[in-house]
Amino acid sequence: MSRIPTVTLNNGVEIPQLGFGLYKVPAESVRDLVPAAVDAGLRHLDTASMYGNELALGRALGAVLEEGSLAREDFFVTSKVWNDDQGYDSTLRAFDASMVALGLDVLDLYLIHWPAPARGLYVESYKALETLYREGRVRAIGVSNFQPEHLERVLDECEVVPAVNQVEMHPWLQQRELRAFHTEHGITTEAWSPLARGRLLEDPALQRIASEHGRSVAQVALRWQIQEGSVTFPKASTAARIAENSALFDFALSPADMAEIAGLDRDFRSGSHPDAVN
Ligand SMILES: NC(=O)c1ccc[n+]([C@@H]2O[C@H](COP(=O)([O-])OP(=O)(O)OC[C@H]3O[C@@H](n4cnc5c(N)ncnc54)[C@H](OP(=O)(O)O)[C@@H]3O)[C@@H](O)[C@H]2O)c1
Repeated sequence: MSRIPTVTLNNGVEIPQLGFGLYKVPAESVRDLVPAAVDAGLRHLDTASMYGNELALGRALGAVLEEGSLAREDFFVTSKVWNDDQGYDSTLRAFDASMVALGLDVLDLYLIHWPAPARGLYVESYKALETLYREGRVRAIGVSNFQPEHLERVLDECEVVPAVNQVEMHPWLQQRELRAFHTEHGITTEAWSPLARGRLLEDPALQRIASEHGRSVAQVALRWQIQEGSVTFPKASTAARIAENSALFDFALSPADMAEIAGLDRDFRSGSHPDAVN
């Protein structure tokens, strides 16, 4: 049994609050890093067709399952439809291709990777996700990088409320307004780039809090996510870092630490703004 707590999505599905993110994990590293993540207690794996490692992830997961101590139901796998595949029929085809690559019958969570507003297809794409959900091919559906206006259209024109919106979020980009919108509509916030791709490690306030707790800056930044109630999945390239990033449940940030971190918000993006990705 994993010691990682879960969050209950709006359809009752449980998602582990901490996972392993596979963006920029080369396919040849996946075979070693997935077992390292499993050894660290992680059961939640976040990939996307765009990451080019679904096949490697499917094989690595298959090898873990073959060992026999863990079952498919112990894992939570997310993938995402890429912008070029948006549209009703092409989203269904992209999902089939991801499932073949992953070697899975049922996916845990399928997301629209970006709204790509200039394409004007995200509502049609979301309707394809609803079809997959109704057919039982995916346990939960949601979106990524959606701003309130994109979520409003989905809420108005579709039937299934997205289970999650996966957005860039960390102490330098706290997304408080968007998160309030999510809470109002029962949407769970997933935080991508929880370490701002490593940039956060330079933050002097986080460094001081980390030294007071005898922890690393990465652990403080990730513990902040846990205490904020978000779901997150840092990426790392070594087993030691994956273990470090997973050791978050034997310490807690104080209310004073949380208040200080609340003051670090500075609208800093380590990735693209959703308006710029099409
Ligand atoms: N939906 C989206 O549009 C979207 C966009 C971006 C990311 N994501 C998801 O979010 C996941 C995480 O985001 P991310 O990969 O962009 O960035 P991240 O997790 O914020 O940061 C990863 C970077 O931090 C470094 N790092 C990790 N742990 C460390 C530690 N303990 N000490 C020092 N450095 C450490 C890593 O270095 P090494 O690799 O060298 O160890 C890597 O350079 C992705 O893998 C992906 O699953 C989603």
